Amino acid sequence: MTKPLRKAVLPVAGLGTRFLPATKAMAKEMLPVVDKPLIQYAIEEARAAGIDQFCMVTGRGKTALVEHFDIAFELEATLRQRNRVEALEHLKGSQVEPGSMVTVRQQVPLGLGHAIWCARAFIGNDPFAILLPDDLVLSETPCLKQLADAYQETGGNVVAVVEVPREHTNRYGILKTGKDDGRLVEVQGLVEKPAPADAPSNLSIIGRYVLMPEVIGHLAKMERGAGNEVQLTDGMAKLIGTQPFHGLRYEGTRFDCGDKAGFLEAQIAFALARPDLAGAVRGFLQKYV
Ligand code: UTP
Repeated sequence: MTKPLRKAVLPVAGLGTRFLPATKAMAKEMLPVVDKPLIQYAIEEARAAGIDQFCMVTGRGKTALVEHFDIAFELEATLRQRNRVEALEHLKGSQVEPGSMVTVRQQVPLGLGHAIWCARAFIGNDPFAILLPDDLVLSETPCLKQLADAYQETGGNVVAVVEVPREHTNRYGILKTGKDDGRLVEVQGLVEKPAPADAPSNLSIIGRYVLMPEVIGHLAKMERGAGNEVQLTDGMAKLIGTQPFHGLRYEGTRFDCGDKAGFLEAQIAFALARPDLAGAVRGFLQKYV
C-alpha cells in the first residue's frame, strides 16, 4: 500500500532573469497564458491529482502569488452587485480551502534543491509532489494525475520525462535508464545538465515530480552541483537503489514558459485549445506566417 499523495510543493523563489524587465517587480509565475497566471495552472493541476495541501516556496517581491489565492472580497461583492455571473465564475479556480496553502521563504536563491529543502517542515514524513509552474503541460489527463496514478502502481519516486534533442541535454536533468516498457522507465542514475557527449541518454526530467520525504535528508547536506547550486537532481540521485525510482513518459505537450519562445508557443497552443478563441487566433496567425 502506497501512502496517499496529498501535498504539493511549488517553488517560486527564482529570479526569473530571462523575463526581465517583465519580472522586475512581478513574479514570473504571475505571467498569464491566455488569461490565467502560470501559478494557477499548477494549483489546478495539483488539485486534479487529488492534492489538497499546498506549499509555495517564495522570496522577495512574490506577494502577488499569495494574494492571488486569497478571497477578493470587494471585487466579488461588486461583481455580485452588478450580476456579473461569468466574471465571478472565472474567479473560482483561484479559490483554495482556507488554511490549505502555506508559504515558506527561501531567502537566498541557492537552487531548486535548496528551495525544496526549505519546505521540509511542510513535507514532514509524507510523499509529496513538486510542480515547477513555468513548465506547462497541455494534455488530456493532467500531467500530475498521470504521475500520481503511476505512483499508485510502482510506489516510490516517479518523475515526468520526455525525450529531448541530444544537443539540449545540458539544459536539463537527464536519466540513466534501466528497464523500459515504453511508458515507465526504471531510473538507474540522474545527472544535472550533462554535456551532450557525457549524457547517459536523451530522456529529460520536466517540472513534475512525486518524491519520497527521504530526499530532504540528502538535500540537507547542501552539496553544490551544476552552476554551483544545490541541485534537486543530485538529492534525488542519492535515493536510487534505496527506493523504487521511475520515469514516466507522460501523454501531452510540455511548454517551457521560463523561456520566451516556449512561453509564446504556449500562448498559441492554449488559445487554439479554447473554443472561444481558436477561430480568431487561427485567422490572425495566417497574417503573420
Ligand atoms: P529556473 O531555472 O527557471 O530559474 O528555476 P528562475 O530564476 O526562475 O528563472 P531564470 O533562469 O533566472 O530566468 C526553475 C524553478 O525553480 C525555482 C524557480 O522559481 C522555478 O520555479 N527556483 C529556482 C527556486 O524556487 N529557487 C531557486 O533558488 C532556484
